[in-house]
Amino acid sequence: MFCGANISNILCSTLCMLFILSCSAFTSQDYENALEKSIIFFEGQRSGRLPHNQSRLPWRGDSGLSDGSGYHVDLVGGYYDAGDNVKFGLPMAFTTTLLSWSVIEFGNSMKNQLNSAKDAVRWGTDYLLKAAIATPDALYIQVGDPNNDHRCWERAEDMDTTRNVYKVSSENPGSDVAAETAAALAAASIVFKDSDPSYSTKLLQTAIQVFDFANRYKGSYSDSLGSVVCPFYCSYSGYHDELLWAASWLHRASENESYLTYIQSNGHTLGADEDDFSFSWDDKRAGTKILLSKGFLEDNIEDFQLYKAHSDNYICSLAPGSPNFQAQYTPGGLLYKGSESNLQYVTTSSFLLLAYAKYLSSSQGGEAACGGGGTSTITSDKLVSLARKQVDYILGNNPAKMSYMVGFGQRYPQHVHHRGSSLPSVHAHPAHISCGDGFQYLNSRSPNPNILVGAVLGGPDNRDNFADDRNNYQQSEPATYINAPFVGALAFFSDQSAQLV
Ligand SMILES: *[C@@H]1O[C@H](CO)[C@@H](O)[C@H](O)[C@H]1NC(C)=O
Ligand SMILES: *[C@@H]1O[C@H](CO)[C@@H](O)[C@H](O)[C@H]1NC(C)=O
Repeated sequence: MFCGANISNILCSTLCMLFILSCSAFTSQDYENALEKSIIFFEGQRSGRLPHNQSRLPWRGDSGLSDGSGYHVDLVGGYYDAGDNVKFGLPMAFTTTLLSWSVIEFGNSMKNQLNSAKDAVRWGTDYLLKAAIATPDALYIQVGDPNNDHRCWERAEDMDTTRNVYKVSSENPGSDVAAETAAALAAASIVFKDSDPSYSTKLLQTAIQVFDFANRYKGSYSDSLGSVVCPFYCSYSGYHDELLWAASWLHRASENESYLTYIQSNGHTLGADEDDFSFSWDDKRAGTKILLSKGFLEDNIEDFQLYKAHSDNYICSLAPGSPNFQAQYTPGGLLYKGSESNLQYVTTSSFLLLAYAKYLSSSQGGEAACGGGGTSTITSDKLVSLARKQVDYILGNNPAKMSYMVGFGQRYPQHVHHRGSSLPSVHAHPAHISCGDGFQYLNSRSPNPNILVGAVLGGPDNRDNFADDRNNYQQSEPATYINAPFVGALAFFSDQSAQLV
């Protein structure tokens, strides 16, 4: 049961407490508010020349305006991944793929936030297009040396570290980062298909070329670029997962049979039969299964039944009580995968639960089979309630009574591990603050002066404790790939009329 709009909030929460009903602590207006904030966060991560309508996060200024110029390429724009000033290609592309997926599945529920969400996608794809088109048979995959960058605590607007540029090529391949870039461009082409057909076509054509490059010159970018991508965004899972993921997005975006053939011929060598339970910027296997299961559930592609079976395994692994349950939850009920930036797994899982619930409910008798000789099944409404618990935890319904989205709710983290948010704004303090001079702000006990509205942070530990310590980056750093799938999940819950239950 959930509390309907015609019962007042107070009565609703009282009923919840009295009867321990599984109703939500938040109203659809609360989710709408969180949705708006989750998108504003991306404005805080923007690199390049900011548009005039960036009025919702006014403390940021232009930055990185000569990125690429030393290499005679234009690499201005894109997103800083987290609390630093490096533009890392792999997480930026993954962020763009997941933002696109959020709009594709739940854009209909976004109402007046839809245009902002599409702007957030476009800020990523404008940059990825530049990175892909600049040089034939190469892809620019990073601006900034993280080792140098991390020696400074500096506003992006003040950056004076060398902006080294890195690329993958036929000699130094990077099928992981290139295929993720292809996935992002393909997914975004669906987002703009109706509203901007010529941009959409450009995205799709570039996606096809970048995928071809990724697939033709096989290798991991960690091999040639390990000193600047590892350990930050090392491709631990290799590149097989990204090739299958990208082919799946191209299949959906292009409707070209050649990608169906590719998936049929290469799926087994690219991880189709492996179960994996962590979906992240590194490992795409679980997301690929869910994405392809749509082909089976909605479009009757019999060959994709395999992916539905593995999607069931993934989904059931998260469901307490199911025979093949194997997730860890904190005492307060938060999915827990690890101490570094744990909420990234919570937001990706919540998104996959909701996307899968949508695919299941649009297929007759659709449910997830959880082992037990076929006797144990779960329905889409159960997936929605699992996801809702995680979303609500993040928004403040947790033992610490702390919202892990900055700027949302009564209590939220004040010491966010983010250079721009923790230093004075360039508008308030225009004088340059150099590399080393910023550390006084990192180490200060004062709250951040600039609210990074909407940022979801790494989050609490396995006992629901959160330090709110700027130096504890594992818990207090935001990242674009934590927010991207959360945008879709919040859109879903903001729209009562779209509820599957
Ligand atoms: C902001 O401005 C840009 C370019 O000037 C435009 O493309 C975009 O749609 C605007 N966004 C909103 C939400 O008004
Ligand atoms: C489908 O994709 C293949 C491989 O990229 C290409 O050669 C072919 O022309 C495409 N077909 C159509 C109808 O676009």
